Order: sequence, then C-alpha cells, then structure tokens
Amino acid sequence: MCTNKNSVNLIPGDIAAERIFAQEMYMKEIKVGLIGFGTVGRGMAQVLMDQGGRLAKKMGAAVVLKKVADIAVSQLPEQFADIKLTKDAQELFDDPEIHIVVELIGGIEPAKSFILQAIAKGKHVVTANKALISQHGREIFDAAAKAGVEVGFEASVGGGIPVIKALKEGLVANRILSIMGIMNGTANYILNKMTDNGVPFDAVLKEAQEKGYAEADPTYDVEGIDTAHKLAIIMTMAYGMQVSLDDITTEGITAIEPIDIDFAKEFGYRIKLLAISRNHGDHVEARVHPTMVPENHMLASIGGAYNGIYFTGDMVGNVLLYGLGAGMMPTGSAVVADIVDIARNIIHGAEGRVPCLSYMPDHITSRSITPLEKIRCPYYFRISVVDEPGVLSTISGILGKNSISIESVIQKSRRQKGAVPIIIRTYEAEESAVRKAVAEIDSLDIVADKTVKIRILDNSEES
Ligand code: HSE
Repeated sequence: MCTNKNSVNLIPGDIAAERIFAQEMYMKEIKVGLIGFGTVGRGMAQVLMDQGGRLAKKMGAAVVLKKVADIAVSQLPEQFADIKLTKDAQELFDDPEIHIVVELIGGIEPAKSFILQAIAKGKHVVTANKALISQHGREIFDAAAKAGVEVGFEASVGGGIPVIKALKEGLVANRILSIMGIMNGTANYILNKMTDNGVPFDAVLKEAQEKGYAEADPTYDVEGIDTAHKLAIIMTMAYGMQVSLDDITTEGITAIEPIDIDFAKEFGYRIKLLAISRNHGDHVEARVHPTMVPENHMLASIGGAYNGIYFTGDMVGNVLLYGLGAGMMPTGSAVVADIVDIARNIIHGAEGRVPCLSYMPDHITSRSITPLEKIRCPYYFRISVVDEPGVLSTISGILGKNSISIESVIQKSRRQKGAVPIIIRTYEAEESAVRKAVAEIDSLDIVADKTVKIRILDNSEES
C-alpha cells in the first residue's frame, strides 16, 4: 500500500517541487510507456510533468512516464531527459514494470498491432485513435476482456471534453434518447469563418491550412468522416449497440456556399456540421451532415474550433458538453484522465470496474439503423431557375404532389440575365419524398443547376 514518506514544501506553481513531492510522498508508482511522441504525445508528457504533484494528491500514487517509442524522434526535449527513448515499441511491451501502454500514433496500422501486442502482454492500453476504435474496436475490446486489461479512449472523441467518462459514469442512469454534436473543430472553424466573414469555403480552408488549423489533407474533417468515427463510438456507448462506419450516412461541408449561409441567416439559422442520432427504441438514426441549426439553439453558438456534444437522457434531460475538441494540451489532458482512471483501478485491485464501452460486453447488441429515407425533418432548398412566369407554381406543384408542405419562400429579384435562386423552407417532410421531388424538379428545363438541399434541425429533435 502507499506509504507517506518525506514531505516537501510546496510553492504553488513550482512544478519541479510538485514532481519531487509526487515521487517522494508515495512509494507506489504506476509506470507508463508511450508510443508516438507527436503533438498529443508531447502534450500528454507535459501534462504528466506539470500536474505530477496534483495527480499524486488525487491518486495516492505517482504516474511515471518510463519509456517513449518513436521511430522519427532522435532526442526528447530537455525536460524529459529522464525518460528512455527507443525506436522499438516492443521494448515497452516486454518491460515488466510498465503497467499502461499509450498509443498516440494514429491510423490503423501499425497502431492496431501495437495495441493487440500490448494487450497480449497484459498491459492496459490508452489511445486517442478514433479511426481505430470505431472500425476495429470490437477486436481490441474482445482481446482486452480476455486478457483482463482496460482500454481507455477518452481522447478519441471531443479532445479535452470528458464525453466518454460522462457516458460511462455521469449519465449511467439514463436511457440516451438523442445525441447531437459538433465534433470536428476544423469544420466548425471553417463554417464559422464563412458565416462571420462571408468568405467562400476554398478561401477559408486555404487560410486555415496556412495557419496550421487544418490538415494538409483535410478530407476526413471536411467530408464528415472524422465526425462519423466519433459518432460511431458515442452511439456504441450510449445505446450498447454495435455501430459501424457504414451505418452512418455521412455528408461533408464542401458544397456549402456563402449564399446558403446568407439565406440561413435570413431564416434565423446557422449552418453546422452536425452528428445526429435519435433513439427510436428498436431502431436508431445515425447521420452526419450540414444542418441548419436555429440561432437560439445552444449548438448554434459553438464558435471557432470548439466542439459541443448535446445529449438528451430520459432522467437527466438535456446535457451540453462544450470545449476544445483538439490540441496538444486539451487532448493530453484527456489521455492523462484515462491513465489516472486505470491507475486508480490498479492501485485498488479493481481493474475492469467500469466496462470500457459502458455496457457489459455480452449486452452490446446489434440494433438496426433507421434508413435515411425514413428520416423526417424540415428542409431548405435552393433551386436555380430561369426567371419566367409559372416557375414557382410548377415547383410548388411538384412539392405538393409529394406531400411536402412549404413553410416559406424567398425569391430575390433578377440582377442580371440568367438563373435566379428560389429558396424554399418546408415543414417536416420525409427524406424519401424529398429525394423524389428534388429529382423531378432537377429534371425540369427551367431548372439551371442541381438543387441544394440542407436539412433543418427542428427544436423538437431535442427529445
Ligand atoms: N481533426 C479533428 C478536428 C481533431 O478538427 O476536430 C481530432 O479529432
């Protein structure tokens, strides 16, 4: 058990003294091996160093980062000089002193093999790898259950926001009725800049890349794939069901134009890339797409590169988790939170106390996903038409024939020769009817371009 050794005089903010305190106060040490010393790896190491004393006071033990494996790093920064650096991850798995292996290299391979090797050697695992957990989680969790070790993945969703912990623990008493979230900071940053500065998508993306806010290859962020990975993980935990990436309808933000943002404002909405899942009992919705969010909805005010995840539980009601979904220190904070959870369980001999996926493994079922055609919500259409008599009545006729009821229409006056946009906001309609109507509208000679369709978040979607 932990022994209180010497006491150290602590001056608030004196990190070195805090570290000595952590090591001297407790004999018990939890040793960690880290694979991948990139941005998040450095963040995690720095959090452990800066918060060592505080963590020891909260855990009754010291967390020690013993070894780092990274093939591309030849020397660790000076403050980490005590940590052994290797190019061979196997050294971490073979080290009997290491309790927890942290994987922060991202991607599917070799991350997956490293994690499975660590588990096979009896190590607990912490990862921030959403692509891996959402696509190969089952194999990893099965292996972990067999080996009696834990897998922490808090940093895979919402960066520094404790989303996973909230689902596993804080909201444990609830049946989750719906999940709505802005889970990609890059896409949110781009949409916010487009909205606030009236700049087109390509220009904002270029600027974001130059400033280092967006990746050189932004496909996963702007096409909604990164958000879908995160939604798959959250849905699995919220509902206790297997969800694969293919179950999630995913549409990105690349087709959004400033004109749609302007009309959204005129109708009282902001366009957000939203992950949406509503629980209908025997089936659940699973979709990621640009959505017009009413300006008075809390998710509409999630600014900059921030994330916001909005749960509705049957007991608790609505809960909004808000914070930085990426970045060195916020993500490092989430990785360390997982390390501390596991370390506490090791210290108290309570490994596996909280199931990794919230539900016990044999209660993770395969419920069905609501087909997209059956989704019902209000819609925004931007139809490019030749401005001539009878056009509006032709279009409204097609919508009426498909049981789509118009809520309001805007047509701006013709400024120059050519097509003009007709903007239509509908009442709630079924996706299958909308697709049929839009196909018919787009086949008309008076229609000059493909109709833009954006789903609208009805405030009633909260429950
Ligand atoms: N690329 C993600 C984002 C962060 O822009 O939010 C990591 O999931």
